[in-house]
Amino acid sequence: MLIALFFIYILAIVSGYVPLVIWHGMGDSCCNPLSIGRIIVDIKHMAPGIYVHSLQIGNDIVEDTENGFFMEVNKQIEIACNIIRNDTQLRNGYNAMGLSQGGQFLRAVAQRCPQPSMKILLSVGGQHQGVFGFPRCNADHSIFCELIRDSINLGVYSNFIQEHVVQAEYWHDSENEPLYIQKSNFLALINHERDVGNLQDKNNLQKLTLFILVMFTKDTMVEPKETEWFGFYAPGNTKKLIPLNESAIYLEDRLGLKEMNDAKKLRFIACPSDHLEFSNEWFMENLMPYINGTYQ
Ligand SMILES: *[C@@H]1O[C@H](CO)[C@@H](O)[C@H](O)[C@H]1NC(C)=O
Ligand SMILES: *[C@@H]1O[C@H](CO)[C@@H](O)[C@H](O)[C@H]1NC(C)=O
Ligand SMILES: *[C@@H]1O[C@H](CO)[C@@H](O)[C@H](O)[C@H]1NC(C)=O
Repeated sequence: MLIALFFIYILAIVSGYVPLVIWHGMGDSCCNPLSIGRIIVDIKHMAPGIYVHSLQIGNDIVEDTENGFFMEVNKQIEIACNIIRNDTQLRNGYNAMGLSQGGQFLRAVAQRCPQPSMKILLSVGGQHQGVFGFPRCNADHSIFCELIRDSINLGVYSNFIQEHVVQAEYWHDSENEPLYIQKSNFLALINHERDVGNLQDKNNLQKLTLFILVMFTKDTMVEPKETEWFGFYAPGNTKKLIPLNESAIYLEDRLGLKEMNDAKKLRFIACPSDHLEFSNEWFMENLMPYINGTYQ
């Protein structure tokens, strides 16, 4: 056993691939063999010896899945930072790939926890300006979905819901922007809605070599899908969309995204499918080059 571990460790060193940290999406877990587990197998097959750490928040897979719905996000970020800091294989830096809400969670890790350093951040369907709508939810977890819908109806911005329902913490009510800005317990913090920006967060995010934003152009789960590219509805509106480069977060330079864009550190990738329903071929062609370091 020890010898096998040692062998894997040596292989990971000589393979030369930058280690990869993954954060799963809602309704999933670190290690589900039918979803993330399959992607990990494919990545390891294509990049032999690569070290992959799929984050598990909680003591087991069941807790990990539940925490994706019900554990205060700020606490989850802190746990993820500790796990990453504790993993000696990541001490020289790592790339990160967040699926769906894992995308904005890993951005928070990049902003709040600069050590060890995140190099490339791949946000695959992340909701960086939040969501406004709950049209479809993973059918396997319909009880959770109902609970969330009910609690959102009860008062998405009440302190209790903000601290206990993950999806409420990135709920962005564009019809009541001031309430969102005042009450959002996670998204408004990482997007610096209540202050003019935070130099530390900005510097930390700018340390990324690349920030890749994948949007699913046929997304029926995330409203609006443009949030996956940092777009969102105009304040007071539920139809008019404002792209990143015309949004307040960009123009007021609250996160340093303008500098990153000017430095060509932001890349916007469109995937022509529904939420997270990319094919293996699409993944290998479009995202794998960032993971194996052969991107142009
Ligand atoms: C990290 O390591 C410290 C010291 O070994 C330990 O006390 C702590 O529980 C670990 N935390 C995580 C999140 O693994
Ligand atoms: C924002 O970016 C889009 C796409 O790159 C571009 O067409 C548009 O002119 C930009 N808007 C501004 C205000 O720079
Ligand atoms: C990196 O990934 C690309 C796309 O899947 C593949 O064509 C290439 O052979 C890979 N290179 C290495 C060194 O792993």
